Amino acid sequence: MTTVEEPTVAELVDLAESRTSLEQDIVTVLDLVYEVIEDLSHPEHAALGRLARFVDQAGEELGDGPVLAATYWPTNGHMVDDLHRLGYLACTDHVLDPTFEGGIWWREWRPAMLTTCHRAEDGSDFRALPFDSHTFDAVTYDPPYVCPGGRKTSTIPGFHDRFGMAEGGDTPMFSTPAELQQLINDGLAEMVRVVKPGGLILTKCQDYVWGGRLWEGATLTRNHAVDLGCTVVDRLEFITRPRPQPATNPDGSPRRQVHARRNLSTLWVFRAPNVDTRQGVLL
Ligand SMILES: C[S@@+](CC[C@H](N)C(=O)[O-])C[C@H]1O[C@@H](n2cnc3c(N)ncnc32)[C@H](O)[C@@H]1O
Repeated sequence: MTTVEEPTVAELVDLAESRTSLEQDIVTVLDLVYEVIEDLSHPEHAALGRLARFVDQAGEELGDGPVLAATYWPTNGHMVDDLHRLGYLACTDHVLDPTFEGGIWWREWRPAMLTTCHRAEDGSDFRALPFDSHTFDAVTYDPPYVCPGGRKTSTIPGFHDRFGMAEGGDTPMFSTPAELQQLINDGLAEMVRVVKPGGLILTKCQDYVWGGRLWEGATLTRNHAVDLGCTVVDRLEFITRPRPQPATNPDGSPRRQVHARRNLSTLWVFRAPNVDTRQGVLL
């Protein structure tokens, strides 16, 4: 018999569900759950059993278990670590990250040779990169991929600034999904140019609801990559817990849910063509 004074079961549930903890936290939670589970009667036992399985699975996902196509990675860095485990990114690769920003993608694993660009600091534009064609073994491309609408209608505070779409800067203000998709597509063409023939382009994007309609950003991005001559190697779904939404629209009217909440973004693994599609020559 083991006595556990802290944390409480409610705190354990909160901790597990928040999914913000790293591996060690999850292992700790799992140990504590297994300790208290022995002492509890039904239905607490049943509830904790479910929690234990949930935490156990999370631990496996973060450890040596199989890489799942759709899961709650704590951060994009953990997903990148799994992309490395799958062999899509190798230690010896020369990788380009043209959307480095805070560098979260590289906090768990990084290759020996990582070239980065960060628009806010170096003024780079991923549609016109200062690199020779066919330079990199792999490229990770994480552009802005959800259109927030105009500043007056966006319900997400700080969204424009966070994703480099601030008014007044030299980045255009993308006010429609079509304009944002054009940016993504133009950048994708540049990724195809700078990656070596047959190299991998790891691209983040998302389906989302805009103006009451579903914008299939993930599908459109995939279709454009195929039009550029890429082949689809893999697809990973980065599941997140939905953020709380405002109860009212910007005009004060009540918000009503129509579509299922898109609590996931998509990571495509594209293989660049072995043919230079612009010149039509075999490389
Ligand atoms: C989703 S964030 C990238 C986050 C990053 N992967 C990280 O780990 O922090 C998208 C980034 O693309 C940048 N961006 C937007 N338009 C751009 C452009 N035309 N050229 C280069 N970067 C751009 C934004 O400033 C922002 O830093």
